[in-house]
Amino acid sequence: MTKELVHIADIGLSLKDEREIFLIHDRNVAWVAEEVAKSTSVKGVISIDTSEELKTLETVEAIERQLIEAEASRSAIIIAIGGGITTDLAGFAAAIYKRGIRWCAFPTTLLGQVDAAIGGKTGANLDGYKNMIGAFHMPESTFICAEVLKTLPERQLKSGMAEMLKTFLLADEKAYLKALEDGPTQELIAKAAAIKEAVVERDPFEKGERACLNLGHTFGHAIEHEARGSITHGEAVAMGIVLAARLGESIGMSEKGLTERLKADFAKAGLPVECHYSLAQLKEAMAKDKKSGADGKVKFVIPARPGEYAFKQLNPNDLHFDTK
Ligand SMILES: NC(=O)c1ccc[n+]([C@@H]2O[C@H](COP(=O)([O-])OP(=O)(O)OC[C@H]3O[C@@H](n4cnc5c(N)ncnc54)[C@H](O)[C@@H]3O)[C@@H](O)[C@H]2O)c1
Ligand SMILES: [Zn+2]
Repeated sequence: MTKELVHIADIGLSLKDEREIFLIHDRNVAWVAEEVAKSTSVKGVISIDTSEELKTLETVEAIERQLIEAEASRSAIIIAIGGGITTDLAGFAAAIYKRGIRWCAFPTTLLGQVDAAIGGKTGANLDGYKNMIGAFHMPESTFICAEVLKTLPERQLKSGMAEMLKTFLLADEKAYLKALEDGPTQELIAKAAAIKEAVVERDPFEKGERACLNLGHTFGHAIEHEARGSITHGEAVAMGIVLAARLGESIGMSEKGLTERLKADFAKAGLPVECHYSLAQLKEAMAKDKKSGADGKVKFVIPARPGEYAFKQLNPNDLHFDTK
């Protein structure tokens, strides 16, 4: 359930009945953790460094050890404070500590607020492949607070814009156009979060509809893998959505001209739109994507036009179009 906070201190009221609160925070947002600790009494604070390289089981183990040392019981609750890396790792740590304790997400990136911290997917990377291990473990609450974005670097803000535009491209043309005009306002952040929450409620374990949120991610994850840390997740997603539209146009499922339109829109939002990798390079990475089935087919999300999408099962080896 998402909860909007006007001030960070308001979190204290939401947690007033908790006796055993553990904060797990990204070191870069220590100031948010300090503010939270002022408004409620906490039993322990665990600081972590974040990067895709550190988004591993080792980091999760280090968290588990600190919870054991601090004698966290099964009634403890974890508050994960940070971007998507932190909420994915801390949520995963909560999912497996003593076979599962409760947690709340307090996302401090725009990407976290509209996407990563909603829906209960938690996990870590393995051997350089994204989110290969993990668990579905729903946060009790996701706290959305515009105030925490004030220290977020511009590039990260734009990266979050990519996920926000993705959500609106799937379901809300009007909001898509407004987001391009106004940027990430509190109102639009809440709207994107609500759309994702509703999709997750209808299909929590991704048996069907929820897979729409992977728009741009099949190509995006492959691009992210090839780029080896030089681009952000949202930047990869933006490029991935453009490629999904290109694929859609090549098989007659996207409206004509959508690829060029999205390129212009994303460029306006300060996002990269040109993919520097060949289809052959991306196919190899896609083959290892956890979403490919036993028959090698991948469920692509094709943007039909702003506000509409369709699924298409395809073997990446059968794709033929120019990525550049
Ligand atoms: N679980 C899901 O459903 C889901 C969905 C989308 C993405 N993700 C995951 O989320 C991750 C990306 O998340 P992200 O973009 O939030 O990245 P991130 O967690 O790496 O945060 C981005 C950077 O901003 C810093 N930062 C965070 N908040 C800040 C703030 N308020 N002020 C200053 N600096 C701040 C972080 O230290 C980091 O350097 C990926 O690993 C991706 O796989 C998960
Ligand atoms: Zn994403």
